[in-house]
Amino acid sequence: MKVTASAPGKLMLYGEHAVVYGSPCIVTAVDQRVRVTVEPNGEGEIHVCSPNVGLDEYHKKISRLGKDDLPKSMAFVEMLVKRFYEKYQINEGIRISTESDFSTQFGFGSSAAVVAALTKALSSYFYKKMENREIFEMAYQAVLDVQGVGSGFDVAASVYGGTIYYVTPGTVIENVYEGNLPMVVGYTGVKADTPTLIRQVAELKRNEGWVEAVFGDITDLVNRAKILFVKQDFEQLGKLMNKNQKLLSTLNVSSVELDKLIKVSKESGANGAKLSGAGGGDCMISFTAESKRENVIEAIKVAGGVWMDVRTGAPGVRLESEK
Ligand code: PMV
Repeated sequence: MKVTASAPGKLMLYGEHAVVYGSPCIVTAVDQRVRVTVEPNGEGEIHVCSPNVGLDEYHKKISRLGKDDLPKSMAFVEMLVKRFYEKYQINEGIRISTESDFSTQFGFGSSAAVVAALTKALSSYFYKKMENREIFEMAYQAVLDVQGVGSGFDVAASVYGGTIYYVTPGTVIENVYEGNLPMVVGYTGVKADTPTLIRQVAELKRNEGWVEAVFGDITDLVNRAKILFVKQDFEQLGKLMNKNQKLLSTLNVSSVELDKLIKVSKESGANGAKLSGAGGGDCMISFTAESKRENVIEAIKVAGGVWMDVRTGAPGVRLESEK
């Protein structure tokens, strides 16, 4: 009677921040997944068990979904269940358990992966056929219910997988590359607070006219990157990472830790490197030729970063087991 679905985490490749204002971005799904299991629960309640976020037992009456104080770690799950139950007029108690290959600290987009996998699991459990487009829309709405901000690029990566060119709110979702990318990823050890950084950039945009021009430059480079993926030109793609990083620095979203890992990666042979995501911490990424890979990994470790052994272009949301 159980259903399990899984969805991948993500790494932003180009276009963060500008994507919130309508520019395109390119994002890749990573081979680190979140799994969500849905099974019966006689109580007529929603019962959630998420040991990976320190929550073993959480109960909520179906009539109270989305009301009362929501623990932050539960808000995404609860808002998604609320939307799904309202749409399909469901009143049945269920038990939801989540587990993850990765820590919520890395910035791989665990909330987006959870809502994507949960939507897929619920649709199978209740025999409601949902295409990826519908899964994306419902999962993105749940993220907006909780966070109020966000382009939805992370939800798109979790639902569709691969390496995609994305325009908010999902007007364009296009795969640009098949398979693993020659990337080296380093974690700074610092957790970024995405909504705070989005608001900080919004404030800058309100006060400084030049921010619009920076977003224009980012749009141009994302569109160039899209073509270079088709040509598999990772040397030029590396240069575009450097360019994107410079532009992000002018928006004040890089950090000492990110700058350090980016610098040593480039010095030890990466084609180019940049922060990935909102900035302020989380991960940096680089395009690095196979011959330089070990040097770059070593340099990241020596500089105090953590090398993240991930493959990219992973498959999107999928059922792992059905009723
Ligand atoms: O911090 P992350 O990995 O969730 O990335 C945020 C990217 C932004 O463009 C800053 C916000 C967004 O929702 O697109």
